[in-house]
Amino acid sequence: MNKIISLDEISGALVCEAGCILETLDNYVKEQNLIMPLDLGAKGSCHIGGNVSTNAGGLRLLRYGNLHGSLMGVEAVKADGTVVDCIRTLKKDNTGYHLKHLFIGSEGTLGIVTKVAVHCPVLPKAVTLGFFGVKDFDSVLKLYKSAKASLGEILSAFEMADNDSISSTVQNLKLPNPIADFPFYVLVETHGSDETHDAEKLSRFLEREMSSGLIIDGTVTSEPAKMQDTDKDVEGHVITWFTAAVDMDGNKQGHPCWDTIWNLRESIAGAGLLDGYVYKYDVSIPAARYYDLVPVLRQRMAGKAVKVYGYGHVGDGNIHINVTVPEYSKEATDMLEPFIFEEVSKLKGSISAEHGVGFRKPHFIHYSKDEGAISLMRELKQLMDPNGILNPYKVLPDP
Ligand SMILES: Cc1cc2nc3c(=O)[nH]c(=O)nc-3n(C[C@H](O)[C@H](O)[C@H](O)COP(=O)(O)OP(=O)(O)OC[C@H]3O[C@@H](n4cnc5c(N)ncnc54)[C@H](O)[C@@H]3O)c2cc1C
Ligand SMILES: *[C@@H]1O[C@H](CO)[C@@H](O)[C@H](O)[C@H]1NC(C)=O
Ligand SMILES: *[C@@H]1O[C@H](CO)[C@@H](O)[C@H](O)[C@H]1NC(C)=O
Ligand SMILES: *[C@@H]1O[C@H](CO)[C@@H](O)[C@H](O)[C@H]1NC(C)=O
Repeated sequence: MNKIISLDEISGALVCEAGCILETLDNYVKEQNLIMPLDLGAKGSCHIGGNVSTNAGGLRLLRYGNLHGSLMGVEAVKADGTVVDCIRTLKKDNTGYHLKHLFIGSEGTLGIVTKVAVHCPVLPKAVTLGFFGVKDFDSVLKLYKSAKASLGEILSAFEMADNDSISSTVQNLKLPNPIADFPFYVLVETHGSDETHDAEKLSRFLEREMSSGLIIDGTVTSEPAKMQDTDKDVEGHVITWFTAAVDMDGNKQGHPCWDTIWNLRESIAGAGLLDGYVYKYDVSIPAARYYDLVPVLRQRMAGKAVKVYGYGHVGDGNIHINVTVPEYSKEATDMLEPFIFEEVSKLKGSISAEHGVGFRKPHFIHYSKDEGAISLMRELKQLMDPNGILNPYKVLPDP
């Protein structure tokens, strides 16, 4: 099931089968000056059907929203074999229940997604990137607020990483850090239609916030005129090489800052593996308390963990918290779980921001869903899959 069925170049509606690889689709729509509304580290291997079933987000969710918004329609097969055809290429369709949402993010427990209709936004003509060093987490939040105000609709990613995330990546993977050592780093990306204008906007933002003291140091660069010349890094991510970069004074320079920055951000995920066993938590927490859990866990795991670090999509409230220990132990696990889920629950966060519930977290789902919600989920499951043949053991806990 890997056929592309249609692409409407006027509306940007793409209809395709569930087994299409995300990267293949991205390359296909690019010919019509469009992009897929999601971009993930795993785009070279993941299928759009899987992305829909996990409601995958990715690096630019801040700009393009999640799949509940960009999916126009779904075709799915129920457990009894009935085909539910909700493929429409319409932005508006209020004819009763929005059934497509039952299949988005339900991890294959309610039906098998066979086709999707996706709304593809226009390919941005200009992409610019800023990488900043700041003194504390409070500055990260202030900078986020200010970035939304100054960059407006072109802001496509606002990411942060603490010193331990970046320094373990720099040390373990021998990657260069384009700026000096700071307690926190912020990565800002813009997608817009005018390179000069966008780069100016980002440079102005940098200048203003350097004088305000929120940014201590930073660098701004534009994507190398969309060069086709690509290469792959250690994890198979495609890196776009570029020739020109704009420095803080707005001068065009020839240093490879673009891929240095994204490469650094994208490599954090693998870097910790070199320190031992990694406990990974992918949670979302309301912005004001976004970083609270990291110091709490550092204190709790003092002497036990090699490192506790946090990085992620500030714009989506999604933080990745990784705890590396020299080796796996039941004692460390028991100190972390369910403690971390209890803390997330107290902060009114979600115990799974992106990666779903799967097999590992059904018995923790109550930290993010109340009894009434869980029983409604059970009723839906019973209705759509009475024999429990679709992804049994996933998502819902044993009654
Ligand atoms: C390197 C990496 C980076 C990632 N980065 C991000 C990120 O930035 N943002 C983000 O949101 N997520 C991210 N993820 C997680 C990502 O969302 C999921 O791993 C991905 O969407 C799952 O797709 P898959 O093709 O691997 O599906 P699979 O792992 O094969 O399947 C996922 C689930 O969906 C079910 N399923 C698969 N196909 C269908 C179908 N057609 N119909 C019904 N059910 C189906 C499966 O049974 C399974 O339960 C990342 C994962 C990796 C490995
Ligand atoms: C979707 O994206 C993720 C990466 O975020 C990838 O792991 C997965 O294989 C993709 N495919 C599907 C079907 O999600
Ligand atoms: C960042 O971390 C490294 C390695 O742990 C440490 O040497 C350095 O002092 C830290 N820098 C700051 C600014 O916190
Ligand atoms: C850190 O956690 C994130 C999920 O929050 C995960 O994607 C990443 O692979 C983890 N890093 C390591 C080294 O396992």
